[in-house]
Amino acid sequence: MEAETWVCGLLADYRGLIGEGCVGLDRERGVIAAISKSPPPGARAMDYRSRGVLVIPGLVDLHVHLRGLGYSYKETPRSGGWAAASAGITLVVDMPNTQPPSDEPGAVEAKLGELASQCPVDHGLYAGVPERPELVGGLASTPVAGFKVYPRDLASRREALQAILSLRGMLVVLHPEAPWARRGDLQESPASRESHRPCWLEAHAVLDLASLGGRARIHVTHASCPGTVEASRALGFTVDVTPHHLHWSLHTLGDPCLGKVNPPLRGHPDVWGLWRALLEGRVDALASDHAPHAEREKLGDPLACPPGFPWLELWPWLVFRLVRLGILGLREFLWLTSRGPALVLGLRHYGTLEQGARANVVVLDPKPWRRFPGPRHSLARLTPALMERLAGAPLAVLVGGDPVYVDGELAGRGRPVNPFASRARASGVRGGGDT
Ligand code: NCD
Ligand code: ZN
Repeated sequence: MEAETWVCGLLADYRGLIGEGCVGLDRERGVIAAISKSPPPGARAMDYRSRGVLVIPGLVDLHVHLRGLGYSYKETPRSGGWAAASAGITLVVDMPNTQPPSDEPGAVEAKLGELASQCPVDHGLYAGVPERPELVGGLASTPVAGFKVYPRDLASRREALQAILSLRGMLVVLHPEAPWARRGDLQESPASRESHRPCWLEAHAVLDLASLGGRARIHVTHASCPGTVEASRALGFTVDVTPHHLHWSLHTLGDPCLGKVNPPLRGHPDVWGLWRALLEGRVDALASDHAPHAEREKLGDPLACPPGFPWLELWPWLVFRLVRLGILGLREFLWLTSRGPALVLGLRHYGTLEQGARANVVVLDPKPWRRFPGPRHSLARLTPALMERLAGAPLAVLVGGDPVYVDGELAGRGRPVNPFASRARASGVRGGGDT
């Protein structure tokens, strides 16, 4: 390993502040080659040591919708990928509710091809549960991060689901809502959506999946209720929450379309309960569920407008503000946004500033934002985060040792990878075991 680029500042990762120093990046192999007090004489260095800024591992978002293909009018891996890069997110894992759905091998290959050709940061993709169980084997041999289970799959694709769950070590990511929770025919005010999709149905979905047994590794994505966190942990599953279920409630973001998301925003007692689970260390990761839609869709009929909202380039800075306010420690922030999600994905070489780790590094100015320009890269601009105060801004973002975003500007695409491809080659196991 040979360090060609050095990045210097106040080094920190999930273990806490490491101290002032430099990471030496091997761009050829895309790994951290060395850590030292200062760069060797004459070395090429991005030296921020006198500026009081942090050098941290790139953030990992294990739940995003980058859309693309038939949904390219909502977002593309290019626009969403640059949104991620600009926010210091250097690994994103995309969901399979694409057009066409990524639930058969040909569609997965097409989606992976689109990600590889457009996305400027490291990326992965979950496969969907196929209608035909015989497709499971073929899907499992593509380089996916794992499988995503939607409420519908619990009801009508159980046989295929069972086949997926029997794959030892395969990562299976559950959207914990019950299939019968949808009530499109009823008036969907934020309060009525919340009561039609109650917390007990979330826990029910977790228990339902658990009842199928198997040898897969289960991760529950976006628990919106404290009971979902507890049920997941009791069953030995990992679990994430979104910053939006922590930050807003149906009382504070009551707009029927802007605040419409699945699972729904909850009332204050559940929000407090979620916070308690997070602060007591029972949540494995934060995940954005960045779900972009076109403005005309979101500004339409509240009964018809699609759930979900975009904020890939903003959510880290809403959460980082909590570090500034003393509510979250820097260590907790870096665990929840980087190391924790990396471990959920089975990627031990992500989310850490150790020798041999992936050279995804962010130089972070921790100052509060004076002015919020709004989303710049995502095609979807209508986000509830428009109303929020933020802190923390990436001064430089490097992917595999290549600068991709510097001083607020795109700096070139670099050489992003799908880490699940190399893992599949190395171990013969996809979506589960450690590298
Ligand atoms: C998701 C989307 O837009 O893809 N929306 C959301 O509210 N989370 C779909 C979904 O998960 O239901
Ligand atoms: Zn989602």
